[in-house]
Amino acid sequence: MADPKDLTKAEAANRLMRLAREIKKHDAAYHDRDAPVISDAEYDALVAENRAIEAAFPQLVREDSPSRRVGHTPSSPLSKVTHAKPMLSLDNAFEDNDVRDFVGRVRRFLKLEADAPVTLTAEPKIDGLSCSLRYEGGRLVLAATRGDGSVGEDVTANARTIPDIPQSVVGAPDVLEVRGEVYMSTADFAALNERQEKAGEKIFANPRNAAAGSFRQKDASVTKARPLKFFAHGWGEISDVPCDTQSGMVAWLREKGFPVDPLFTTCEGADEALRQYDAIQAARPGLGYEIDGVVYKVDRLDLQERLGQVARAPRWALAHKFPAEQAETVLEAIDIQVGRTGKLTPVGRLKPIGVGGVIVSNVTLHNFDEIDRLGVRPGDKVRVQRAGDVIPQIVENLTPHDDRGPYPRPDHCPVCDSEARSEEGEVDIRCEGGLICPAQRFERLKHFVSRGAMDVDGLGEKSIAEFLELGWVKKPSDIFMLHEHRDALVARDGWKETSVDNMLAAVDARRGFDAARFLFGLGIRHVGAVTARDLMKAFETVERLMEVARSDGALAELTNVDGVGEVVAQAVIDFFHEPHNVEEVTRLIERARPAPYVVEVAETEWAGKTVVFTGKLESVSRDEAKAQAERMGAKAAGSVSAKTDLLVAGPGAGSKLKKAQDLGVRTMTEEEWLAEVAKA
Ligand code: IVH
Repeated sequence: MADPKDLTKAEAANRLMRLAREIKKHDAAYHDRDAPVISDAEYDALVAENRAIEAAFPQLVREDSPSRRVGHTPSSPLSKVTHAKPMLSLDNAFEDNDVRDFVGRVRRFLKLEADAPVTLTAEPKIDGLSCSLRYEGGRLVLAATRGDGSVGEDVTANARTIPDIPQSVVGAPDVLEVRGEVYMSTADFAALNERQEKAGEKIFANPRNAAAGSFRQKDASVTKARPLKFFAHGWGEISDVPCDTQSGMVAWLREKGFPVDPLFTTCEGADEALRQYDAIQAARPGLGYEIDGVVYKVDRLDLQERLGQVARAPRWALAHKFPAEQAETVLEAIDIQVGRTGKLTPVGRLKPIGVGGVIVSNVTLHNFDEIDRLGVRPGDKVRVQRAGDVIPQIVENLTPHDDRGPYPRPDHCPVCDSEARSEEGEVDIRCEGGLICPAQRFERLKHFVSRGAMDVDGLGEKSIAEFLELGWVKKPSDIFMLHEHRDALVARDGWKETSVDNMLAAVDARRGFDAARFLFGLGIRHVGAVTARDLMKAFETVERLMEVARSDGALAELTNVDGVGEVVAQAVIDFFHEPHNVEEVTRLIERARPAPYVVEVAETEWAGKTVVFTGKLESVSRDEAKAQAERMGAKAAGSVSAKTDLLVAGPGAGSKLKKAQDLGVRTMTEEEWLAEVAKA
């Protein structure tokens, strides 16, 4: 980072504008999509740069400056809750001296002698997401995420599924808000990602994002299936405070049944706090959950009260962050990997090196722009980092060099030698070889038999590689012809009669698998498991989808499907535009005979009817109400017409209600509708 003092006012204003935009974008990637694109350390560096420039140019602090926000205003279907007391954030420290400064500030603020004792607490900073649990009369009545600190999301149903969180507290004050961290252990995170990958679902970047993605679910049954845990580290509104120290309160919370971090301790002054920091850092690799620093708090609650807060962070607490785990090594080569959709990804091969207890020999370089940004070439000494993220990355090129210009982009696929190109305005370069490219073939075959698609037991990556090598399986439809190679396969090393027959029987047994899995298995760009289901809900069979995609009005008809936008629609059209894809899909349908997709529908009097929802629904979201209608065999429509059979009107219903009444359409309240749902 350049010294802010070297910036002109105009440069500073410009940089602040960019930082505001960039940090906001990363906040959204992190909080809304649980898919960060930069490491926490890089994010912290942006925030620190923003702060430094603002300190040098206070007159340039923007209305939308990241320093004015605590967290991120959630964009989500969960309903919002205003916190009884704001959920604060913490000031960050990176150096030992920052901790000494903190204790000095505390003393000065309280007008204590320069060497007066200050008792602090020290505890791990859990890398999870904060949650506030409200108990009234000892019963859990509300759970909320932090959100922007003032307004969070209602996650009560989700919190009730976490075994660590007590549903009731014996001997609690009338109102008790317990605050703490929801997190996922590293082992549970690894197992979850393995299940997600097999099912063709989203892979999480780190345990924190997995915890957030699991906790902030509209459907609490998803949360229930995820192994979430909880540590209490504080409180919000409380009608009667039972202790006069932070440490007393933590012991009390533990007594009341809340898990608290076993590494919580008290210490005298900065030096002992720093020793505790070292001890917690040393314990870090064996904890089984991720922590990203140590939090110190002034122990006495009366002093906390006097210290109060600045902006949105208390003066009585400090987060001392761990440095990202880094190491220096040599970048030995830059290879290019070809993905399922033909994307060429440069991968750095390193002289193997230990980083934070893990041997790292590969780093992702994301794309060719990233190579240019780092200015790296094979042979360079580089600093690599593992910052909680699963994939290590290069943070800095340590070899001095002049501007090397752009790294040469491949114009041919390194595997099949087909042309490689990037689309206008896109950074990614793709091999145009499609199914001719063995790398894409292998990835696509693997995808076709994966858990979320055909899901064949006993047909794993190794067998696929072997059959591809032998030339027996080049495309998915060949999988159904493997029986022709039975005798040859039995004769091969590593195969026995029973294993071959079991595998063939498993393939045979999967004939007739459902059309949505079939469509997902085709690996069309942008068509994941959920989109595949949306498409099949609308078209029922792959033949019908193919017909629509090849017709003149394809784009309009496809974008008409709930959940399908232009990008997806265009990808589907492009896929079925290729004659070799149509040929393969036709053959595959003949052999796999996918079953038309059926949405489970209850037999009700509403089957075939059209329902419209209007006004504010109180106990279900609009999406959930529509799903209820679908499950009852009805169709949910957006506007009232003579074809409407029922209008469900909540408070504030206006013109739609009037129109329904004019047309003599039957109307119901939300409550009456829910009674119908309960009957079905
Ligand atoms: S105390 C007013 N203690 O860190 C003090 N926070 O960066 C509020 N966090 O929003 C928090 N571990 O979600 C505290 N042991 C710990 C923590 C902790 C993790 C989170 C918390 C907070 C964030 C601030």
